[in-house]
Amino acid sequence: MNLYKYVSDEINKILGFDVGLETPKNRDFGDFATNAAMVGAKAAGKNPHELANEIVPKLQELNFIENVTVAGPGFINLKIKDDFILNNAHAPEHIATQHTLNLDLDYGSYNIGKALHIGHLRPIVVGDTFNRIAKFVGHNTKLYNHVGDWGRPMGLIIAWILEYGMPKNANEFNKIYPASTARAKEDESWLNNAREITAQLQSGNKEYTKIYNEFIPISMSQMNETVQRLNVLPFDSIMGERGVSEYIPETQKILENTKILEQSDGALVINVRNDNDNAPMPPLIFKTNTGANSYAAADLAAIYYRNKTDKPDEIIYFTDSRQTLHFEQLFRAVKIANITTAKLTHVGFGTITGKDGKPFKTRDGDVASLSDILDTAETAVQERVAESKKHLNDKIIQQIALSAVKFNDLIHDVKSDYIFDVNAITSFEGRTGPYILYTAVRLQSVLNRSNDVKITKPEHHNLTTEERNLLIQIMDFEHMILNAFENRAPDMLANYTYDLCQLANNFYHNCPILRDDINPEIKAGRLYISKMTFDTLATAINLMGLEIPSEM
Ligand code: ARG
Repeated sequence: MNLYKYVSDEINKILGFDVGLETPKNRDFGDFATNAAMVGAKAAGKNPHELANEIVPKLQELNFIENVTVAGPGFINLKIKDDFILNNAHAPEHIATQHTLNLDLDYGSYNIGKALHIGHLRPIVVGDTFNRIAKFVGHNTKLYNHVGDWGRPMGLIIAWILEYGMPKNANEFNKIYPASTARAKEDESWLNNAREITAQLQSGNKEYTKIYNEFIPISMSQMNETVQRLNVLPFDSIMGERGVSEYIPETQKILENTKILEQSDGALVINVRNDNDNAPMPPLIFKTNTGANSYAAADLAAIYYRNKTDKPDEIIYFTDSRQTLHFEQLFRAVKIANITTAKLTHVGFGTITGKDGKPFKTRDGDVASLSDILDTAETAVQERVAESKKHLNDKIIQQIALSAVKFNDLIHDVKSDYIFDVNAITSFEGRTGPYILYTAVRLQSVLNRSNDVKITKPEHHNLTTEERNLLIQIMDFEHMILNAFENRAPDMLANYTYDLCQLANNFYHNCPILRDDINPEIKAGRLYISKMTFDTLATAINLMGLEIPSEM
């Protein structure tokens, strides 16, 4: 049961108007608080305290209410009956919504020529969790990896290969783009040459296409391998810049019909500025002055294509916030040309920094690759485990390390920057992935050791404070997950999970379960609660794309 929704609906019904309901962190005074008396006072021509005293008896009639008290100037605190909690709490299940949305999610979106780096972590991790949440609450999703495989980097890579030959492996390949870019910075003719090659590749040059087709798989398979380590659900489409380029002519026709394409220094642009703009709003470039399709043109064509094939209700992009302007320009152009009626959303991420607050780099001053990051976390976990004289196999080390990296990523508000500190995130205590997994493993072990007791809902079980708080948190799952979806905020799920673990550990420490002196009825009740807690936690862990180790 979604307790929050239930209580709120019942109160609204009995009072005849919509009241605000809060869930105080400290439940000493009640499980819920409402400002109903404050809100209703004016209309009723009474002072809030007076009105509160009239509302109280009405609320007391509700069969799930244990007691109602008035605090301060008219706050009303409600306490829910224990039996009601015990009878209605259950582990979360998929939610069937009446309004199923078709969502196109765009994340990952690697670039050919550059190994995946730390900047790809958040879009992939948060994008994946958001996808899982969206499905959990009943929506359809289609995952697009809008691969950067068609822009100027391709010309820079081909130019290099023409001069130095085809690379033998992915590591050799990854050096080409940086080297060629560096050369282009010093040598304008090299840059112009790369530009020319790009334009010709895009118009079907055979020689360039052959080279292109040879290096793409080298690069893609290496990046896919890294992504696989992240334990994310597979993309539905890797239709990237090249794939959508086929739709650029049709898209261009729409833009021409709407008369919004303008010539500007040999380029084709769309003016997206409006009178209310205070900040700079440059025109969106559709074709460059060498005739190459721009990054934005690919995105316009992608929207055109997705609109035609998926009929999405919404397209959501997950990238770092440096692309905020690009998406603002893009969304404006789409609106002016009326390419889709789908809602368009950009979720922009903050930066992962080192302790100095600057973008995270390796010791050599390079941008850290994504696989470096995962290796670093695995080493740190390995060391901790060795220190505590435990023996855990490689798979478990990987599961713990991944939880450290991903949970830390998820628990931060997407917009804010955060510091990547491998020691902090691999700790087994505090707001960390390992702490979450450890709690799950502990509950699992209790359940495993109880195999002679049948786990069923007890007829009656006097709840301790710890049990009560834990069950109410479980009953808040649905409310939380719907909010996390609405707000595109997977950090709500991560924070919820941490709170759940804290309550679970309080319960574990204060309410002995399998001890010999615990009477069978209490034991059965506590096992029932343990099982429900484990199932709830397992659902949360799964939504974050993590796995519970077999031991820890
Ligand atoms: N490949 C781009 C980059 O790394 C990100 C693509 C984001 N998605 C999009 N449809 N533009 O900068």
